[in-house]
Amino acid sequence: MKIFLDTANTQELKKAAETGILDGCTTNPTLIMKEGRDYVQTLKEITKIVNGPISAETVSLEAEGMVKEGKKFAKIHKNIVIKVPMTPEGMKACRIMTKIGIRINTTLCFSANQALLAAKAGTYIISPFVGRLDDIGESGMHLIEEIRKIYDNYGFKSKILVASIRSPTHVRDAALLGADIASMPFKVYEQLFKHKLTDKGIKQFLDDWDKLQKGLKKK
Ligand code: G3P
Repeated sequence: MKIFLDTANTQELKKAAETGILDGCTTNPTLIMKEGRDYVQTLKEITKIVNGPISAETVSLEAEGMVKEGKKFAKIHKNIVIKVPMTPEGMKACRIMTKIGIRINTTLCFSANQALLAAKAGTYIISPFVGRLDDIGESGMHLIEEIRKIYDNYGFKSKILVASIRSPTHVRDAALLGADIASMPFKVYEQLFKHKLTDKGIKQFLDDWDKLQKGLKKK
């Protein structure tokens, strides 16, 4: 499963890229707003850090506007993938851009039927939002299971990107269910490395090493 960061913060992306584990990045207007910087400029910087798909989101509601925005973003770098919403206009834009070689990430997916339609429209990535479904008392992970089954039933090649991730448990469950990509906030990415027994083990090894050094000095 590929690991993406859901952020427009270049410092976070640099830190994750240094480990060699980072496979891509997703952004959206909310994440860009948080950084308070120009979108195109930020995307240009991200392309220098991340060696993999980088999603840039359109804000038009009509297909024509989405295509115009998508073409502008796609010119920045070959790794740019264009995010369109799961609407009839979004799917129209998906079809048009896919035909001219621009890869699409269909965002704001909350049902298996929406994922089916997006795959039929040729989306490169489908982004089901698990956290927001959990927030309203539905099961985000059940949706991932349904989409995986449907895509496998019909051999759809669209990649399932688990979005709106809130915890390491979401990442583990996404991997167990065979999702293609998990895109997560930097905080969750950092949590993935952690285990209290790892910390305890390191401390014990270092303490014992110190004891050995002190004992050797006495001899
Ligand atoms: O890219 C979509 C994702 O960022 C949404 O996450 O936490 O706002 O539901 P969240």
